Amino acid sequence: MLKGRNLIKPLDFSKEEMEELFKRAEEIENDPSQFREQCRGNILATLFFEPSTRTRLSFEAAMLRLGGSCLGFAEPGSSSVAKGECLADTIRTVACYADVIVMRNPKEGAALLATSYTKDTKIPVINAGDGGHHHPTQTLTDLLTIRQLRGKIGNLTVGFCGDLKFGRTVHSLADTLSRYEGIKMIFISPNELKIPDFLKTQALKKNNVSFTETDNLEEVMGDLDILYMTRVQRERFFNEEDYLRLKDSYILNVDKMATAKRDMMILHPLPRVNEIDLELDDDPRAMYFKQAKYGMYVRMALLSSVLSA
Ligand code: CP
Repeated sequence: MLKGRNLIKPLDFSKEEMEELFKRAEEIENDPSQFREQCRGNILATLFFEPSTRTRLSFEAAMLRLGGSCLGFAEPGSSSVAKGECLADTIRTVACYADVIVMRNPKEGAALLATSYTKDTKIPVINAGDGGHHHPTQTLTDLLTIRQLRGKIGNLTVGFCGDLKFGRTVHSLADTLSRYEGIKMIFISPNELKIPDFLKTQALKKNNVSFTETDNLEEVMGDLDILYMTRVQRERFFNEEDYLRLKDSYILNVDKMATAKRDMMILHPLPRVNEIDLELDDDPRAMYFKQAKYGMYVRMALLSSVLSA
């Protein structure tokens, strides 16, 4: 079903195809031994033009746990990109060596462009984040976390908090949640970091999703079933002054949780800088490290699906 498919935008897979992935991820979590030969003989290339801990390492861990092998670079300075090689040549070359390519690149649209250099091969390209645009495998991670820990995806009030302008994880998750029933979204950000208009028109309004915008987290805290915190991303700002002014707009701590529901989930794609106080890590509602683990299971499900039946 997904064999040979690219994953560039979160909606490249239907809701039903995503559900199949979640079921496979659940099977893997329950009995990983069944899957340890699934990708034997296959090679994953991870091409990271931007830093990463979770995405790259969870993809590599996923491939190794499926019996496959990994190659690639964690930063372009160690590859011939540093000598001026263009994306087309890098992708065409890596496609000679690997069976699946996972790429993160600071430029929006880079992953889509990469697919134009692999289209004559059967090698899937997976977008591991393209600038401030999309991060579809983080969305798979987020949805699997919600599905496993809440029992369902739907009929939820989800608060997105922080850098909603540049936050690719927010764009991809909000876009995808628009397909589910009974989702209400509350976007919490400073005025300068509000969600982009394209998301409002192409996802939320188009799907009649109920949403509101505010700059006040405390005011809406009691309404939320899920609070999706995000980092203010220094690397996306054009000047340091704006970053310094906005970086600590929201710091979630024990006091601010006073009005939160007892079963509210705190999610964060990570990395965290300052926006969730470390003291909250012991709160049972803090799910972000479980979320990081679900990222590996869902990437195992994804790799095994795009490489085999
Ligand atoms: N969530 C996420 O993309 O984390 P990394 O930047 O560490 O890969």
